[in-house]
Amino acid sequence: MSFWNRRKSVDALAAVEASARLRPTLSWWHLIAMGVGAIVGTGIYTLTGISAGLAGPAVIISFLLCGVICACAALCYAEMATVIPAAGSAYTYSYAVLGELLAWIVGWSLILEYTVASAAVAVGWSAHVAEFIQNAGWAIPTPLLHGAMSGGLVDLPAIVISAAVAILLIVGTRESATVNLVLVGIKLAALVLFVVLAGQSFNSANFHPFMPYGFAAHVDPDGVKRGVLAAAALVFFAFYGFDAVSTASEETKNPGRDLKIGIIGSMAICTLIYIGVAATALGATSFLDFSKSAAPLVYILDNLHHGFEAQLVAGAAIVALPTVILVLMYGQSRIFFVMARDGLLPQSLSAVHKTRGTPVLMTAVTGLVVAAMAATLRLDEIALLANAGTLCAFVAVAVSMLVLRMRDPNRPRAFRTPLPWVVGPICIVGCVYLFFNGLPTFTQWWFLLWNGIGLLVYFAYSMRASRLANAK
Ligand code: ALA
Repeated sequence: MSFWNRRKSVDALAAVEASARLRPTLSWWHLIAMGVGAIVGTGIYTLTGISAGLAGPAVIISFLLCGVICACAALCYAEMATVIPAAGSAYTYSYAVLGELLAWIVGWSLILEYTVASAAVAVGWSAHVAEFIQNAGWAIPTPLLHGAMSGGLVDLPAIVISAAVAILLIVGTRESATVNLVLVGIKLAALVLFVVLAGQSFNSANFHPFMPYGFAAHVDPDGVKRGVLAAAALVFFAFYGFDAVSTASEETKNPGRDLKIGIIGSMAICTLIYIGVAATALGATSFLDFSKSAAPLVYILDNLHHGFEAQLVAGAAIVALPTVILVLMYGQSRIFFVMARDGLLPQSLSAVHKTRGTPVLMTAVTGLVVAAMAATLRLDEIALLANAGTLCAFVAVAVSMLVLRMRDPNRPRAFRTPLPWVVGPICIVGCVYLFFNGLPTFTQWWFLLWNGIGLLVYFAYSMRASRLANAK
């Protein structure tokens, strides 16, 4: 069969060999915790500032736009995850609907999304640690707190957190998800504390002028891309993570019920939190002030003379941001696992540990790569690159949902996307538009380069090694 026509059967996907299956240990509340754990992170804790600098108070519109696009994507994901309750997320859906080559591109982009986003969050976490250490007056050499691309030598805290999270995942999904639940509570409590305290200083005058850099993305004379849409292409980072929940579908006890509650529930909770936090921040202080801070929420509380509470929020970020890395790295190791199981990557990498039930080698490799990236690269640039991979995956899921509706309309669907011909196209057009108009040119080029390498790997190795290609 030509690689162009190679597609997995949707029925076969639900019946993966028992020997290679991941153990089903998760229920819907694990998934909501995973979703909120992955979604609320570096995006709201750090990128809120940078993106307010790109759009002014109108960054709220950027948040709203991303919320709408991601909600549409979440609905498409929920349908696909219940039709195909197998690990692999957008990669697996594309393999069943769009064929092997497009699935490869999506999988390769997802590797970029999860790995790079994990590294970005590790760097954001490390920035909070650096601030904490500095404020506490501890004597740790600054070059060991920042990566080479950020004016330091090596980002030691980022290496430590990446390794710690990888070990937690190797210990087992169930344990990791339970730890995650406690940390999600801490993270949300800090955001509520911020809204309650900063909300007392709300001044609507801070919302004028509302849209100082206009709506469309444009490159200013200083070379920075600004405007509401440019900010949207960055704050998009703050929204995703719910897609990692669908990578857990094979480990879910009751996929038909748990996945839709997990994906849509976590998305709705996070959208509400973001709008509340962003509006509070913008009302409490001029965006011109906090947009320069790497920890804008902490900065604002400090500015309002809530020094102790500012330290609490900083501490909560340090304790809780690792949940984001945990879920993202989890998703990445599962994508790798499934691609290797399909023969597109060396199958020796996909071995499931006998007693733990987790892909140990793959998780360890993922942890090493994330640590290496986090130790050296810059936060803003990697966040944008992660967004490029995610935008690509979202388009693939929405297209897959629509194509499957046409090709196989009578297939039972435990969850059906409402108004599919409105929701799907909003997701596709929104993501394509943000990719081409919102992202900086260098991000688009890096993404193309990554996929160029991916295609070389595919045609040199995966195309022939594919299990489907060798199936009798
Ligand atoms: N949404 C995740 C974050 O903001 C990736 O950290």
